[in-house]
Amino acid sequence: MRADAVRRALRTELEAARARGAEPVRVVDVGGGTGGWAVPLAEFGAAVTVIDPSPDALANLRRRAVDAGVAELITAVQGDTEALADCVPSGGADLVLGHGILEVVDDVGAALAALRAATAPGGAISLLVANKYATLLRMVLAGRVIEAHRLLDDPDGAPAGDILARRFDVDSLRTALEEAGLEVSSLHGYGVLADLVPGATAEDPGVAEALAQLELVAAGTSPLREMAAQLHALARPR
Ligand SMILES: C[S@@+](CC[C@H](N)C(=O)[O-])C[C@H]1O[C@@H](n2cnc3c(N)ncnc32)[C@H](O)[C@@H]1O
Repeated sequence: MRADAVRRALRTELEAARARGAEPVRVVDVGGGTGGWAVPLAEFGAAVTVIDPSPDALANLRRRAVDAGVAELITAVQGDTEALADCVPSGGADLVLGHGILEVVDDVGAALAALRAATAPGGAISLLVANKYATLLRMVLAGRVIEAHRLLDDPDGAPAGDILARRFDVDSLRTALEEAGLEVSSLHGYGVLADLVPGATAEDPGVAEALAQLELVAAGTSPLREMAAQLHALARPR
């Protein structure tokens, strides 16, 4: 797995689950789509169940798993967060991923309750969400100033007509997790500076390595964390 902050955190969780005796480590990736997270986790030896409502995404996931040689470690299930209990036994996952789904589900509290129910004792939930302030900055840089103002004014960070139901900031993500009875172990920025580096410069191997190191530090450094493209939290049932 690439050594960015989220992959490092997930890898640490897999190793901790192994140390608790889980073999293989059971991961449930809710809204896992085409397997951008699931396939690398399977390559690290985890048995990953991907739940997603999109048949096209699941077909892509299956192809990707075969190409990566991990098809036997990945189970693709058509379903959604709202019916997670029908797809995954209660407490059946050492690590539960909910990456890119809290922005689209109907009810954040119900979604978090479902992720929590799927988590085994000692296990963790990994959440990755869109950061409303990063979207605002991108809009302004693109000259979409009125839209940016509407986004800032909207309590959900997603005004009428937006493709997402909501975006988060550090406080609103932490509050949602705590209200769902979860303890927040870590909350970092993800993709803090990479988008700011001109494409050709970023392709220079020396720059890419330096940028990766800088991202790791920036992920936990305020106020850089608060402006990251996405926010990542690791949480555990209380
Ligand atoms: C932004 S993509 C994220 C994909 C992947 N988790 C990632 O981070 O690369 C959102 C995914 O959530 C799925 N999705 C949409 N509504 C959902 C729901 N109610 N429950 C679970 N997944 C959902 C979509 O089909 C899509 O694959």
